[in-house]
Amino acid sequence: MSAAAGRYRETMSATSQRPDRNLAMELVRVTESAALASARWVGRGQKESADGAAVEAMRTILQTIAMNGTVVIGEGEKDDAPMLYNGEHVGDGSDPEVDVAVDPIDGTTLTAHGKTNALSVIAVGERGSMLDPGPSYYMDKVAVGPEGVGAIDITASPTQNLRWVARAKRESVRDLTVVILDRPRHADLIDEVRSTGARIRLITDGDVYGGIATAWPDAGVDILFGIGGTPEAVITAAALKSMGGEMQCRFSPQSAEESSAMTAAGFDLDRILTHDDLIEGDNCFFAATGITDGQLLRGVRFDRNGARTQSLVMRSRSGTVRMIDAHHRVSKLQEFSVVDYS
Ligand code: FBP
Repeated sequence: MSAAAGRYRETMSATSQRPDRNLAMELVRVTESAALASARWVGRGQKESADGAAVEAMRTILQTIAMNGTVVIGEGEKDDAPMLYNGEHVGDGSDPEVDVAVDPIDGTTLTAHGKTNALSVIAVGERGSMLDPGPSYYMDKVAVGPEGVGAIDITASPTQNLRWVARAKRESVRDLTVVILDRPRHADLIDEVRSTGARIRLITDGDVYGGIATAWPDAGVDILFGIGGTPEAVITAAALKSMGGEMQCRFSPQSAEESSAMTAAGFDLDRILTHDDLIEGDNCFFAATGITDGQLLRGVRFDRNGARTQSLVMRSRSGTVRMIDAHHRVSKLQEFSVVDYS
């Protein structure tokens, strides 16, 4: 083979391993099935059962997606999580090679209590592009939508950030709404934001919803502040990269154990990570389906013919955000699907 032919072959094989189609259009089937399976548990007070149903459905449908995926962010370590554990291979094994982050339910308690904004979510990026959180459970986060890009700095005070964001949006601080997880660790943050005159939407869970809401005009949220899950940060980064928003994070261990595990694993706890550090490159995909009703998406509705779902589908390269309404005829699905939706 000539040198030129060899180079051509190498280029073609490298290209075929990268995702060049909109994988998110297929990934939405994964979040739809997780939402459909867990929605039967809404309000039944059993978050483990809801999560178990979502994980199983997600894993089953993931195996049908044409990709060679490795779970970078899953349900934990292999021994604690029988399915969708970190390092697990998902997809049908064909190209492209990708990293996968899953959260079968962001808001297990929301689901168990029938409260708003529980989502099933997945993010996918090129192989090697996703931050492996190692022993990190918690991160401090600031997120904004496109109008706030360039106006945030996680090392500055919340007050200063609100002033900058208000100026960027040509609004006053009083016009801004901040989303914050309602946790004792945020008592000082909440006091400070209140003292600026900005409004607060306190959420009991679900900061993936909170992050996306900053970039979703109808959600009525301008900025997210506070400490939440590290996996949720990576997943939110995929959505904000697609929607043109910005996120800055910092590891924020919440126990001495987490802190020493992070240091032992060689993580720099002072490092500022942007959405581009959480998922590198411009080719990531995101899909989410509503489990319960919320400000972004309607939850699963059942009727005598089947069920309806509403989903968001995004790709960072194109910046296209699609909302997909689907009607599922459960009796038909049951004929060929291995997932039990009944
Ligand atoms: P789960 O659905 O896994 O329970 O997570 C919900 C959630 O609220 C996330 O959205 C958030 O990032 C994290 O928990 C916050 O953790 P904690 O509840 O420990 O403060």
